[in-house]
Amino acid sequence: MKKIDYGIDAPHVIRNLIIFSVIGFLGPIFFPIIKIGPVIIAISGFLWMGIACGLMAVWMILYSVYGKLKHRDRILNMIDWNGSEMVLDVGTGRGLLVIGAAKRLTTGKAIGIDIWNMEDLTKNKMENTLDNVVLEGVKEKVEIKNDNAIQMSFANNTFDIVISNLCLHNIYNSEDRKKACSEISRVLKNGGVGIISDFKHINEYRNNFAQSGLKTKILPASYFTTFPPLAILKINKL
Ligand SMILES: C[S@@+](CC[C@H](N)C(=O)[O-])C[C@H]1O[C@@H](n2cnc3c(N)ncnc32)[C@H](O)[C@@H]1O
Repeated sequence: MKKIDYGIDAPHVIRNLIIFSVIGFLGPIFFPIIKIGPVIIAISGFLWMGIACGLMAVWMILYSVYGKLKHRDRILNMIDWNGSEMVLDVGTGRGLLVIGAAKRLTTGKAIGIDIWNMEDLTKNKMENTLDNVVLEGVKEKVEIKNDNAIQMSFANNTFDIVISNLCLHNIYNSEDRKKACSEISRVLKNGGVGIISDFKHINEYRNNFAQSGLKTKILPASYFTTFPPLAILKINKL
């Protein structure tokens, strides 16, 4: 029986943190002192590394399992919905935002785009996103497409709302991130609203959108519900 599952973000980062945590805990037990020639290294300090990495891994898992649902509500509550909007979720993954948006629509439509990088989210496949869409009962209002944020297939001024969570930092060079911001500006209608959430480059995105003539406002991260802490950038196309 299939169950709704929005995946665990950055699984390789969590795996590495767990490995460092185990080394940090077990190292001092099995090798309390390492001798390299005349140099003696006491590795009890590794314990702190183990504790820190373990806490970060747990916090990241808690974000993926519980925090991201709260974070989705925070993002979607920032929009004045009338139910008829055309919505785009950039880097939808397993459909977290696009499904949340669709639940606020009546006659509108929500489109989620992604290129489904497996290293960014567990079981990141279009079929799994479509399963979530069906399980959440929003099939009639959602479309999921394979489309790249840096070169979208949509016409100018298509969307009333563009939302995106933890996607743009996965575009590794700043020129391409700039293209993605310019694509978001292009497909947003005049009078449209965008909410971009990410844990880094948020000032860079703000400058990119400002250069495209959009009004921008950064809201602080919630350290309680998100880890890494996710800042929110609100953009308005005037
Ligand atoms: C960490 S996941 C977040 C997924 C979802 N937004 C969420 O909050 O659960 C990042 C997503 O961005 C997608 N992504 C990365 N680069 C992209 C690009 N250039 N165009 C579209 N999607 C991209 C990845 O495939 C992945 O699904």
